[in-house]
Amino acid sequence: MSHMSPTDLDTLRTDFAARIDQAADLRALDDVRVAALGKKGEISLLMRGLGRMSPEEKTVMGPALNGLKTDVAALIEARKAALEDAALDAALASETLDMSLPVGRPQGTLHPVQQVMEEMAVIFSDMGFSVAEGPDIEDDFHNFTALNFPPSHPARDMHDTFFMVPEPSQNSSGSDAAVGQKVLRTHTSPVQIRTMMNQKPPIRIIAPGRTYRCDSDQTHTPMFHQVEGLVIGEDIHMGHLKGCLMDFVSAFFETDVDVRFRPHHFPFTEPSAEMDVRYERDGASIKIGQGNDWMEILGCGMVHPHVLSACGLDPDQYQGFAFGMGVDRLAMLKYGMPDLRDMFAGDPRWLGHYGFSPLLQASLESGLS
Ligand code: PHE
Repeated sequence: MSHMSPTDLDTLRTDFAARIDQAADLRALDDVRVAALGKKGEISLLMRGLGRMSPEEKTVMGPALNGLKTDVAALIEARKAALEDAALDAALASETLDMSLPVGRPQGTLHPVQQVMEEMAVIFSDMGFSVAEGPDIEDDFHNFTALNFPPSHPARDMHDTFFMVPEPSQNSSGSDAAVGQKVLRTHTSPVQIRTMMNQKPPIRIIAPGRTYRCDSDQTHTPMFHQVEGLVIGEDIHMGHLKGCLMDFVSAFFETDVDVRFRPHHFPFTEPSAEMDVRYERDGASIKIGQGNDWMEILGCGMVHPHVLSACGLDPDQYQGFAFGMGVDRLAMLKYGMPDLRDMFAGDPRWLGHYGFSPLLQASLESGLS
């Protein structure tokens, strides 16, 4: 070791330069670095040997060794930069995103309630309906009064209404209080009122949305969804109502469905009815369209003359029908979900199982679901 000459160092330099050059990747390059400059690397050992050299030797070999160390370190750095560039180029080439390709499997799913509302919109828009909306926080006028609920009628309590805390400025006595009183809408029927007050007949709308009643058990949640329907014209009669709803259920359940209209009472329709569909229980599942049992799925009727008048329409000139149905219930029936409360628990496993691909649009041509 002590007989090393600067020429020997040149050989070492050439040797390491070749090995650095041949290092095919960053790992191999690091192996060369350790072999040369690591704690027990060849150059490091030589530097350690300087201490045992004579002062004359040291003057020659010291700078020469330092030069070698610097050169090898620089070669390694250069090679490292080149290899990193190459690695980045390779990654860029292999991980390129073609933004024009169709999207892969999406992460989220469409909630069954959303899916069912879209299916309904598809069916009714095919029949010439458009979609209307109203606020979740309604006033007493739109939710009750204009819909022909008498002022002290028990129906207001029957709906298990959530009343909003009145604003401090609000007069809290007399009939003014009721008029200004805000509620969480107990049904989507107030959208009927808003629509009739804002547009001229002929009217043909559905109004999907959230509704609220203070009720909670296996088949009731305080928030639920309804789809309202309203048709107003100069020659609309009960036959139109029946035909429209019969066509709807068959399209919705994608099979022929037998229906039955039972007389009922709603303050805002006269006559009023509930519509049942024929069904059969098959173990835990329910089959719509066959069997000998009847299940109620919606309320409907001819719009009451008082309601038309409240909206500024002449009942002698205009008639129409309205209906309202529970979306959650229809989703459970169509897609076999056993417990209503699971619908709103927000469990990703449930959504993964019952959810729908957001990329598949419901349509009458390609199938609703
Ligand atoms: N609003 C009624 C309910 O929530 C349903 C309904 C709507 C009935 C329209 C008749 C006409 O039960």
